[in-house]
Amino acid sequence: SAAEKGGYDYFMLKEIAEQPQAVADTLRGRLTDSGDLTLDEVRLTDQDLRDIDKIFVIACGTSYHAALVAKYAIEHWTRISVEVELASEFRYRDPVLDRSTLVIVISQSGETMDTLMALRHAKEQKARVLAISNTNGSTIPRESDAVLYTHAGPEVAVASTKAFLTQVVAVYLVGLLLAQVRGIKYADEVAAVVQQLQKMPEKISAVLATMEPVRELARDLASAQQVLFLGRHVGYPVALEGALKLKELAYMHAEGFAAGELKHGPISLIEAGTPVVITVPSPRGRAILHDKIVSNIQEVRARGARTIVIAEEGDEAVAPYADHMIRVPHTPTLLAPLVTTVPLQVLACEIAAARGHDVDQPRNLAKSVTVE
Ligand code: G6P
Repeated sequence: SAAEKGGYDYFMLKEIAEQPQAVADTLRGRLTDSGDLTLDEVRLTDQDLRDIDKIFVIACGTSYHAALVAKYAIEHWTRISVEVELASEFRYRDPVLDRSTLVIVISQSGETMDTLMALRHAKEQKARVLAISNTNGSTIPRESDAVLYTHAGPEVAVASTKAFLTQVVAVYLVGLLLAQVRGIKYADEVAAVVQQLQKMPEKISAVLATMEPVRELARDLASAQQVLFLGRHVGYPVALEGALKLKELAYMHAEGFAAGELKHGPISLIEAGTPVVITVPSPRGRAILHDKIVSNIQEVRARGARTIVIAEEGDEAVAPYADHMIRVPHTPTLLAPLVTTVPLQVLACEIAAARGHDVDQPRNLAKSVTVE
């Protein structure tokens, strides 16, 4: 009913709007009085966590994109090597695991069968398993050695939005917690990142307040044949997520690429007027990363693409190459998915609605897939 949707046309729009709260709730209470990060359920010792020499992050669908973000953050903060894998692939090869491997499984529902089977396989190999889940007491957290719950609240729309943002927050927290347990070599950085995380709900609200031009653009893009998404670093998983949302909801051909791969194939997909969405990392971060994406934008535009650029406020270097500019507040590169994903959610939702589809119940999809 309309009341359940809190005045919004779709649960998805309501859940997109709830993201600042969901992120704030997921951060709340994680720091002890002494400034240490904590998990919810821990059936592991600190020594177990110190002994870890390799990490796998495993998930399906949108949760897999949160897993990809985890690799960038956890490797940077802990210097432990991280492999990311789709749950359905993990089990059917012969992954190298032992008791000093940490397997992080990410599942909103906590019931996805592929992820559960990957978890059981990991445990058979004696690996330690940490779950990130939005569902208290569901099977995946119950069978894991440690749990960090996301506090997104119930997510009704099939396409995941607020759960994804809170999963991204959770992977940052796990990365920072591992850095802390393993010698606090990066203590200052941990404290600084925690502080920056606290500012994210406000930044997400600021993005949500500027979505009207994105809605207009969406109506304009509703008749496009395909939409391509490009990003580098953590912008790459954001590109994959933007494309997945559009496939799920609008039934359009959409693909996300690492921008550096353009020249190895995807650039041939670009025709006159093809919409290409590019997320640009902060110009205050690594200059090389920013410069490379600016030249990628020029490359696709030279081939006729219609460029839709998501860039930080004050980033003027990209402006000449943007047919449409979507601004987000300044955010350190690693944390940027928390703001840059939001316009892509709105874009997919509005394109789907403009094409006349049921945004909350897309065809052929289920909220939770409990078969392999
Ligand atoms: C289904 C849903 C997706 C979700 C995926 C993984 O495909 O439609 O939105 O990302 O399952 O779900 P999980 O509950 O394990 O995060």
